[in-house]
Amino acid sequence: MTLSNNFLEKAKSGDLVIGIVGLGYVGLPLAEAYNRQNTKVIGYDISKARADQLNAGQSGMKHIADARVQDMIEKKLFRATHNPEDLKEADTILIAVPTPLDVHHQPDLSYVKATCKTLATVLRPGQLIVLESTTYPGTTEEVMKPILETSGLKAGVDFALAYSPEREDPGNPDFETSTICRCRRSPREHHG
Ligand SMILES: NC(=O)c1ccc[n+]([C@@H]2O[C@H](COP(=O)([O-])OP(=O)(O)OC[C@H]3O[C@@H](n4cnc5c(N)ncnc54)[C@H](O)[C@@H]3O)[C@@H](O)[C@H]2O)c1
Repeated sequence: MTLSNNFLEKAKSGDLVIGIVGLGYVGLPLAEAYNRQNTKVIGYDISKARADQLNAGQSGMKHIADARVQDMIEKKLFRATHNPEDLKEADTILIAVPTPLDVHHQPDLSYVKATCKTLATVLRPGQLIVLESTTYPGTTEEVMKPILETSGLKAGVDFALAYSPEREDPGNPDFETSTICRCRRSPREHHG
C-alpha cells in the first residue's frame, strides 16, 4: 500500500493541497471553504474562460463576492487552471462536475467519465479522489474505478477513491458549504 499521504498532518501544518475539478456552484464554494481554513486549492476547469474569469478575480456567482475571490488569489491560497497537469500537485482531488438527468431521468455521467479519463493521465500514487457530484450508489466502483485504473495505478492500493455527495444550497441564509451536514439525514432534519 503506497497510501501513506498523511492528510491530517499536512492540513495542520498548512501543507495540504486540494485539487477541485469543476469550478461551478459546488466547486467554487468548496474552494472558498478550504481557503478559509488556510488550505491551498488548485481549481481545474475544462473551460479556459472559467479559469481565466476566476484568475481575473471575478466569481461569476452572486453569493460569492469578487472581492473574496481576489483575496483568495492574493493570499496565494487559490488559483484556477485549465491545465490538468497542475492537479499532480494536489494531495486530494474533489470532483464537482455536472451530472444532469438524461432522458431516462438517470444522471448523465459523461462529465464524470471525461474527468476520470483526464485524471488517469495525471494521477500519482498517494492521491485521494473524491466524487462530489450527485449520482447513484456504485458510480465510484463501477464507473470511475475502471477508468482511473487505466493509469496503471490500483484503487485502494496506490490511490484512494471515495464518494461524498455535495449538498451545496446556494443562497441558503442558514447553512453554507462548511456547515451543511453530509450524513444520511437531510441537513434540515439534522439541524432542525
Ligand atoms: N448547484 C447546486 O446547488 C448543487 C447542489 C448539490 C449538488 N450539486 C451537484 O454538484 C455537481 C456540480 O454541479 P454545479 O452546480 O457545481 O455545476 P456547474 O455547472 O455550476 O459547474 C460545473 C463546472 O464543471 C466544469 N466542467 C465540466 N466538465 C468538466 C471536466 N470534464 N473537467 C473539468 N471541469 C469540467 C464546467 O465548465 C463548470 O464550470 C452536479 O453533480 C450537481 O448535481 C449541485
